Amino acid sequence: MSAIQIIVGSMLGGTEYVAEACEETLIELDHKVDIHLKPDLNSIINNTFPINIEEKKHSGSPENPIWILCTSTHGAGDYPDNIKQFVSDLSHCAQDLSTVSFLTIGIGDSNYDTFCKAAKDLSKLLISIGCSELTAVKTFDMSEDIDPEDLVQQWIRTNIDLLSI
Ligand SMILES: Cc1cc2nc3c(=O)[nH]c(=O)nc-3n(C[C@H](O)[C@H](O)[C@H](O)COP(=O)(O)O)c2cc1C
Repeated sequence: MSAIQIIVGSMLGGTEYVAEACEETLIELDHKVDIHLKPDLNSIINNTFPINIEEKKHSGSPENPIWILCTSTHGAGDYPDNIKQFVSDLSHCAQDLSTVSFLTIGIGDSNYDTFCKAAKDLSKLLISIGCSELTAVKTFDMSEDIDPEDLVQQWIRTNIDLLSI
């Protein structure tokens, strides 16, 4: 079992459904999951590195914490509003996050030149602060992927070994 934080960037709500579909599948596969629809870096760090013994027992393997970043892109390649503060805090974060492994799921529309740019930028930021990327950014294209919730659940089942670290 891994202890997973799902961090959601969404403007119109669509990406929340995709993130909740991930959460459902990961719980079915016996992982411990916390989902953050209004991401706050301090709370995420507290969940990632529990100091209380009881919390540690329940959180699986805090030595190998996993973050799943699930975000859409808005404006001209911008982050959704609800995740901007988290990204800013992360870029100034003094805490060592080098034991965090992560993967990023991008929801976008390939009609934009800046297809899934927020997810790609977030992945670069996490790498720049020393986190380990488990696999390349997984993108879903809303101009052709009709059921991204179903697709993301299939993708997680196929790639579950990535998360069993
Ligand atoms: C005003 C606007 C700007 C957008 N800009 C981008 C973009 O730059 N790149 C991209 O890949 N998708 C872009 N999209 C598509 C959204 O990312 C896509 O519709 C996504 O499903 C929205 O997810 P959300 O409901 O979680 O916010 C844009 C959509 C809107 C409405």
